[in-house]
Amino acid sequence: MERSRIVGTGHFLPEKIQTNKEIEAFCDTTDEWIVQRTGIRQRHRVAEGEGSSDIAAPATLNALEAAGMEPQDIDLLLCCTTTPDQIVPATACRVQEMIGATNAAAMDLNAACSGFIYGISTADAFIKTGQAKNVAIVGTEVTGNRLSWERRDTAVLFGDGAGAAILTGSENGRGVLTSHLWCDGSGLEMLWYPGGGSKIPVTHDNLDDFDIHAVQMNGQGVFRRAVGDFSGAIEKALDSAGFSIDDVDIMVPHQANTRIINAVAQKVGLPEEKCVVNMDRVGNLIAGSIPVALDEAVRDGRIKEGALVLIAGFGAGLTWGSALIRW
Ligand SMILES: CC(C)(COP(=O)(O)OP(=O)(O)OC[C@H]1O[C@@H](n2cnc3c(N)ncnc32)[C@H](O)[C@@H]1OP(=O)(O)O)[C@@H](O)C(=O)NCCC(=O)NCCS
Repeated sequence: MERSRIVGTGHFLPEKIQTNKEIEAFCDTTDEWIVQRTGIRQRHRVAEGEGSSDIAAPATLNALEAAGMEPQDIDLLLCCTTTPDQIVPATACRVQEMIGATNAAAMDLNAACSGFIYGISTADAFIKTGQAKNVAIVGTEVTGNRLSWERRDTAVLFGDGAGAAILTGSENGRGVLTSHLWCDGSGLEMLWYPGGGSKIPVTHDNLDDFDIHAVQMNGQGVFRRAVGDFSGAIEKALDSAGFSIDDVDIMVPHQANTRIINAVAQKVGLPEEKCVVNMDRVGNLIAGSIPVALDEAVRDGRIKEGALVLIAGFGAGLTWGSALIRW
C-alpha cells in the first residue's frame, strides 16, 4: 500500500443559529465589530444538554455513508476535540458506542485547532504501518458552555459543529502526500483554558473566576504567530512534496479569522478564491473547522477527484500543521 486516502467526508451542524445581533443583547459587542475584525456573522449552538459526542456521531455516520462503509468497518476512531463530553473516559468511546463501530479502538486527540491535521497524520501512520485498515477521524466541538460572555474578545469567536473523514489504504497514487506537525509549548498561555484539570481543579472558591474558567487569549500575539507559522507550514508541505503554490487547486485552512486566512494567502501567493472560507456562517469550530469546511467543499463540487488539496491549521498549544492530499 502506498498511502492513505480520504474516501468519505461528512459533517453535522446543530440546527440552532446564534447571530451577532442576538449576542449584542447580552454582550458588550456589535455585529459591525465582529464582522470587521473576524469575518464571523453567525454560529451554530447545540441544544441544552448536548455534548460533543451528540454532534460527532451524526457527522461520522455522514462520512461513513459517503465512503460506502459500515460502522463495523472502522478499526480506529480518532475524536479530535478540546471540549470532551467528560474528562474520563474519552469522548471517542461514547461516539464508538453511539454509531456502533464495534470493531474500532477509540481515543481522543487534543491538538486544539490543529486537531484534524494531527488526526490525519496519525491515521496516515496507522494505515501505512498496517496497524489499521480503515480510520475515522471526527473533529467535534461544543464551545458555547465553555465561554464567558464577560470576555467578549473570545466569546464571539467560537461555534459548535463536527466534521469527519474516513481514511483507508490506497494503491493508486491518490491520498495523503505529506503531513507535517509542529508544537511550541512555550506559547501555552497565549491561548488556554486554565481551569478544570489536575493543575487548577474546580473549587467552590474559584468557581466564578473568569481568569480560570474562561478561555484566555492574547489575540494579537496569536494572530501574529498564526500568520507566520501557518505560512511556514504551507511552504514546508509544498517543498517536501516538490510542488509550487501554483499547483495547489484548493486550500482548506483552519477558520479562526478571515483576516488571518487572507494574510496567509497573500504571503504564500495563493489567490483568495482558492481558499475555502465558511467561518462567516459557522465561526471558529476549533478541531471541527477544517473537516466541516472540507466536507462542504467536497459536497458542493469545489473539491474534485484528482485535485491537489492543501490543509493547514494553527491553534492552542501552540500547535500547527499542514498536509497535502491528492484527492
Ligand atoms: C481576537 C481578535 C479578533 C481581536 O481583534 P484585534 O483587532 O486584535 O482587536 P484588539 O485585541 O486589538 O482589540 C481592539 C479593541 O477591540 C475591543 N474588542 C475586543 N473584542 C471585542 C468585541 N467582541 N466587541 C467589541 N470590541 C471588542 C478591545 O477591547 C479593544 O478595545 P480598546 O482599543 O478600547 O482597548 C484578533 O486578535 C484575532 O483574531 N486573533 C487571533 C485569534 C485566534 O485566531 N484565535 C484562535 C486561534 S485558533
